[in-house]
Amino acid sequence: MKIDILTLFPNMFDGVFQESILKRAIDSQKVEIHIINFRDFSKDPHQKVDDTPYGGGAGMVLTCQPIFDCVRSLKTDQSKVILLTPAGKTYQQKMAYQLSSEKHLILICGHYEGFDERIKSICDYEISIGDYVLTGGEVPAMVLVDSIVRLLPGVITEDSHLNDSFQNQLLDYPTYTKPRVFEGMEVPEVLISGDHKKIEEYRLQESIRLTKENRPDLFNE
Ligand code: ADE
Repeated sequence: MKIDILTLFPNMFDGVFQESILKRAIDSQKVEIHIINFRDFSKDPHQKVDDTPYGGGAGMVLTCQPIFDCVRSLKTDQSKVILLTPAGKTYQQKMAYQLSSEKHLILICGHYEGFDERIKSICDYEISIGDYVLTGGEVPAMVLVDSIVRLLPGVITEDSHLNDSFQNQLLDYPTYTKPRVFEGMEVPEVLISGDHKKIEEYRLQESIRLTKENRPDLFNE
């Protein structure tokens, strides 16, 4: 998979792709990630990328030209273009699965007060990572990349995502490791029993309990 990230703040991405699972995925060529400053595509003599909103109002709005030209220089018939915006559809694990089967993603990070509405005409998806407003689309782009890349074949063992939270509308069950007793808190007996059927049943019950407790909305679905 190839992922192009269009941003005005490329330095924000320093580090995130250079550690742990994402680094391994890049090093083993499961994914190729490019950070592109779309200011470089501005035809304005001062490389301006924003302007005041028609109709008045606070702040600056990203203009069409740099983003249109940048996207057009990258896009092929295998590309999906994604705009990160708090006004988009809420991102969920099933979308991560869907996007993980694409060949090429172009992520556009909005900034300032917003972007010219016409930019949506070159996008396949408008995605929000949740009901809160961030300073820009950079952190949301990192969230998408992380959640998608871990699903690519061979990046982590398949078993690890079979039990992920949100798989089958349930949150992941609790896990424990050594020691058996820590500050008086004991590992549930069943996990030490060696009875795999009982362990499976316990984990399902715990998933159900946790989902009811923390995410009644998911449970009722
Ligand atoms: N830009 C600012 N806030 C955002 C959010 N919640 N999701 C996606 N992009 C954003």
